[in-house]
Amino acid sequence: MILKGKKGIIFGALDDQSIAWKVAERCVEEGAQIVLTNAPVAMRMGEINKLAEICNAPVIPADATSLEDLENLVSKSMEHFGGQFDFVLHSIGMSVNVRKGKSYTDLNYDWMQTTFDVSAISFHKTMQTIWKLDAIKDWGSILGLTYIAAQRVFPDYSEMAESKALLESFARSFGYHLGTAKKVRVNTISQSPTWTTAGQGIKGFEEFFNYAEKMSPLGNAPAVDCANYCVSMFSDLTRFVTMQNLYHDGGFSNMGMNPALLEK
Ligand SMILES: NC(=O)c1ccc[n+]([C@@H]2O[C@H](COP(=O)([O-])OP(=O)(O)OC[C@H]3O[C@@H](n4cnc5c(N)ncnc54)[C@H](O)[C@@H]3O)[C@@H](O)[C@H]2O)c1
Repeated sequence: MILKGKKGIIFGALDDQSIAWKVAERCVEEGAQIVLTNAPVAMRMGEINKLAEICNAPVIPADATSLEDLENLVSKSMEHFGGQFDFVLHSIGMSVNVRKGKSYTDLNYDWMQTTFDVSAISFHKTMQTIWKLDAIKDWGSILGLTYIAAQRVFPDYSEMAESKALLESFARSFGYHLGTAKKVRVNTISQSPTWTTAGQGIKGFEEFFNYAEKMSPLGNAPAVDCANYCVSMFSDLTRFVTMQNLYHDGGFSNMGMNPALLEK
């Protein structure tokens, strides 16, 4: 029970395929108390209530682009926990241009702004709200989920690549401030392609998933293993890891060529 006595907020559990869903379950299994949140539109599916039951957790809706919603979420969470909390998972991503099938050479810039707001600026907004409300305990841990398209070109990932580059940069920059002031660590985990609603939204996802599977010596990292990594990052076993982009990808990020790809 490596999270015994810890308390945290988990964003982004949509259905039981969601990475955040698995993180929520694993955190509770390891002794944590959690609050679940997602965008009000995501509530309509009703799935999150099942998770809330399993985890014995309240659900507090928040559009992560709205400062008002975030303030409400953070202050209600503090009321629920009876004070400050220890960890936060940001597990949010959505591209309007990808959704609407726009090609990278014909992007709509209003939609691009929305993509950045939802997928990256929401991370800064969350941390700024936590900072202002002094909501996180000393030696707390904040995580965002990202993808290697922030560093390398994956053409079908489109403007999500820039969203992830921005997200990772916010982790480093806010990691400085939260680290200096409160010994709080901020990291991003760069996860393998995973079968979820967000993942499958990317064109050619199946081919892409199979390619990464063959390229990675360990194969693609499953969502539940990503959840285990998150648990370790929320635990006291990783207190001095901060401002890092941590690859959880079966070795994909350091491969150049894998002969397995040539086998028919
Ligand atoms: N699936 C993959 O292949 C993969 C790989 C690497 C990283 N990631 C990242 O993992 C994270 C979780 O995605 P997932 O794959 O579990 O998919 P998912 O679709 O289950 O989760 C995405 C979540 O973002 C939420 N969201 C969207 N707009 C929001 C808003 N305005 N406010 C609050 N929440 C909002 C959705 O409701 C959903 O719960 C994302 O950051 C994604 O980019 C996914």
